[in-house]
Amino acid sequence: MASVTSLAATVHQRVADALSAALPEAASADPLLRRSDRADFQANGMLALAKKLKGNPRELAAKVVGELPESEEIAQIEVSGPGFVNITVADGAIVRTLAARAADERLGVPYAEDPGTTVIDYSQPNVAKEMHVGHLRSTVIGDAVVKILEHRGEKVIRRHHIGDWGTQFGMLIQYLEEHPHELDHGGDAPGTAGESGEAAMSRLNRLYKASRVLFDSDEEFKQRARDRVVLLQSGDERTLETWRRIVGESMIYFHAVYDQLDVEVRDEDVVGESAYNDDLQQVVKELEESGVAVRSEGALCVFFDDVKGPDGKPVPLIVQKSNGGFGYAATDLAAIRDRVGRLGADTLLYVVDARQALHFKMVFETARRAGWLPEGAARQLAFGTVLGRDGKPFKTREGETVRLVDLLGEAVERATAVVREKAEQGGLDLTAEEIAERGAQVGIGAVKYADLSTSMSRDYVFDLDRMVSLNGDTSVYLQYAYARIQSILRKAGDTRPAAHPELRLEPAERALGLHLDEFAETLEAVAETYEPHKLAAYLYGLASRYTAFYDQCPVLKAGDAATVENRLFLCDLTARTLRQGMALLGIRTPERL
Ligand code: ARG
Repeated sequence: MASVTSLAATVHQRVADALSAALPEAASADPLLRRSDRADFQANGMLALAKKLKGNPRELAAKVVGELPESEEIAQIEVSGPGFVNITVADGAIVRTLAARAADERLGVPYAEDPGTTVIDYSQPNVAKEMHVGHLRSTVIGDAVVKILEHRGEKVIRRHHIGDWGTQFGMLIQYLEEHPHELDHGGDAPGTAGESGEAAMSRLNRLYKASRVLFDSDEEFKQRARDRVVLLQSGDERTLETWRRIVGESMIYFHAVYDQLDVEVRDEDVVGESAYNDDLQQVVKELEESGVAVRSEGALCVFFDDVKGPDGKPVPLIVQKSNGGFGYAATDLAAIRDRVGRLGADTLLYVVDARQALHFKMVFETARRAGWLPEGAARQLAFGTVLGRDGKPFKTREGETVRLVDLLGEAVERATAVVREKAEQGGLDLTAEEIAERGAQVGIGAVKYADLSTSMSRDYVFDLDRMVSLNGDTSVYLQYAYARIQSILRKAGDTRPAAHPELRLEPAERALGLHLDEFAETLEAVAETYEPHKLAAYLYGLASRYTAFYDQCPVLKAGDAATVENRLFLCDLTARTLRQGMALLGIRTPERL
């Protein structure tokens, strides 16, 4: 496995060297090399530099050009405009660097030089409740970030901080104690994973509704439910047993949704709120002793200068309620101590709805004051809201939150229709099973891609028509580009892809080649800023350039053997780059579509 220096990086280095030779007093100045439409690259760093040194930018640019030695990479270089340096790279250099990438399993992408340990908190649904679009975002974004970081060699520890604790369980457990058969399977035959997940959820819904009715109408039951919470928190074995039944039922449902979403969630990474129960007293003790938290009207609170309510009064983070109960904040604080102290994390990520930004700001600051969290080590990857077509938070017509399973089901159904129609048009003979499998890969890919291709902090409209469209910035478009390449490679038969640096390239080939050259740098930037949408944009750019190449440059009918092989080589590297990039986003690339 060898990492490959991109052509862009090589050219950058050459220009930087020429700049420091031309201007020794600015030895470390950045020539600011960018891709450009005029030439392949343009360096415009000479403008600011000349201004700073009170020189003439065109003269400086000319000096830099004069200092550039002849090289294999640079075919043409000239001063342009007010003092830009325009650079055209050699066709052979493009093909040679790409060949080095193709020879490497990792496509020449290096590992991070100094990887650390990241704990990422994502996909944290709530026990006994349905998963909704908010959980979709957390799951899809978290899964992509995990894959992107792991690919760079970061040690990633996943945490699914599920909502499995709190007073609401008193009601459910008490009801189940009194009606032990409420969760029974009623003899229904075990069906597919999806069906048993649905069945588990409907049993939980039934339990939830029945216990709610009793809780709201029967004062004595209400009291028994409250007493049950105390038993739960003090670790009463029988109560825990019943609680585990409820959690287990929910896990069946969660796993069915994860299967449908094609996301791996491992049981050992599901460490819910309950897991920190035993640490909460210690959290309180340390916060109180250090003075980070103070008692206020009986509750244990942390105050912040810059957090005030509309009335101007400070709004504290409540670690312990006046009745002694612990809330969401206490669990998050205990989790930070565990993640930094025991798991050795140097970075903590939280893929959580932007509407919880204030909570995390206060929790992080509290943990920092308490000495549990180094400054700047924690970060919320805050995501925006999923909107309906009306631009308002996505709801059903009845105004209820949309069930994730329904959404995914509809996406797969739509995608299956697209796949079937396209197969019929293209004369592709797919079995019903193949159509169903591809429909799922296309439909789920469409949902994930629509989510990941917009910057995560932004809201986006859930629009299935657009998501499964064959044209435009969609995963379907990328998947078809990939499948089309596979079909060409199959048709090529014994003619194998081979790089031919001696050939002259067409403009569409150069554009495709220079884009392929940017893969490693793109991944590095995406990992450093936690911005999967930049990877999506890169892949869309790649598929678009491929489409242009495909339209302008015949592959199998190119004529001479060397050109056919070289074009097959570009096809193959494009496909491998697409597949790798899509895999990092959690999206499948079917070989035939
Ligand atoms: N269970 C919460 C919800 O559904 C999200 C939990 C986020 N993670 C955390 N560590 N607080 O909104």
